[in-house]
Amino acid sequence: MRAVDDLEVLGRRVLLRSDLNVPLDLTGTGEITDDGRIRASLPVISKLSDRGARVIILAHLGRPKGASFEEAAAGGPSLRPVAERLGELLGRPVGFATDVAGPSAEKTAFTLGDEDVAVLENVRFEPAETSKDDAVRGAFAQRLARLGELYVGDGFGAVHRKHASVYDLPMLLPHAAGDLVRDEVAVLRQLTTDPARPFVVVLGGKKPSDKLAVIGNLLNLADRIIIGGGMGYTFLAAQGYEVGHSLLEADQIPAVKDMMAEAERRGVELVLPVDLLAATHFAPDAEYSVVPVTDFPADREGMDAGPQTRALFAAKLADAKTVFWNGPVGVFEFPAFSEGTRAVAEAIGRVAGLTVVGGGDSAAAVRILGIPEDSFTHISTGGGASLEYLEGRRLPGLVALDDGTAA
Ligand code: 3PG
Ligand code: MG
Repeated sequence: MRAVDDLEVLGRRVLLRSDLNVPLDLTGTGEITDDGRIRASLPVISKLSDRGARVIILAHLGRPKGASFEEAAAGGPSLRPVAERLGELLGRPVGFATDVAGPSAEKTAFTLGDEDVAVLENVRFEPAETSKDDAVRGAFAQRLARLGELYVGDGFGAVHRKHASVYDLPMLLPHAAGDLVRDEVAVLRQLTTDPARPFVVVLGGKKPSDKLAVIGNLLNLADRIIIGGGMGYTFLAAQGYEVGHSLLEADQIPAVKDMMAEAERRGVELVLPVDLLAATHFAPDAEYSVVPVTDFPADREGMDAGPQTRALFAAKLADAKTVFWNGPVGVFEFPAFSEGTRAVAEAIGRVAGLTVVGGGDSAAAVRILGIPEDSFTHISTGGGASLEYLEGRRLPGLVALDDGTAA
């Protein structure tokens, strides 16, 4: 992969794909609740601008719905507030185009001066961006390509998506990988190449179906896998325990059972919760009690790890030399149910070796819970992307940037 330093950018229009997909307030105020991904995107933006590039940023926000640009744009979310936050953080004005590849984008791109920075509207407002049809994506990428002369891929969180702005566009322009993508890949490579042991993985988040493939590959890599959060209930159910109204992917139980048997054969220790906070319903102020997993009430919903589980998870992290963590182990957005995630974050923070926090939700949890970011070696901006990397998959956005030169 070529680096930004290998490109002559002075006076050139550079299409920069960033991942600015920040979480927005769930109650609909549109407020940005964690701007970590914007901050992580700043270095390459500043570098390009400092070198006299005309920086045109392409990014997505959320998963807009609609059969046309107009329909999707009407439903939102717009990238405009993100562009505004970017301007505040950069400390310089940032332009904004109200479309992606239409008249506003053209005017914006062709009137930029050297060092100027502009953001195009949410690239997913164009249905072609995410089309499964190569020709449709390709045609859209051609429209985007006219706006720039060079391409820089720095949206690590989206490199696992075979989307026009991630995969097809870099094929059409001289390109390089941004600093964020290079740093992220370097850390993941460290995790997968001869990691110091014990290598402990913590997996949480909602669905085992999203993570079974990565667990399969992690059985080759990790010594111990701690499983909590929403996906943990399916593992508990697979062991025959009642889980009440907790998140459950019943159809995944056979696959989970196979996975548990395989872990046992390979000598990889799987660690599951031993007690839980069982609430009457899903709400920040719901009544709850601490229950052992062996005695979960059928009318309750699991919301967080219990105190014994927190101590167990911390103990299973204490001797780790390498840690990868993806996914909260409770509903950390509600303070009453954030202690499990906090305990895991703090236990990882005490580990002296290489510690990597993978992804959107866990990275946001760390910041929202006020855990010092420097207690980890690396906080990745990519959840799905880092998991798919660990799965051993070839990620489209990295394939497109790869031109045979050493990364
Ligand atoms: C993310 O938030 O995981 C990345 O920005 C990719 O977004 P997506 O999961 O909607 O493709
Ligand atoms: Mg995602």
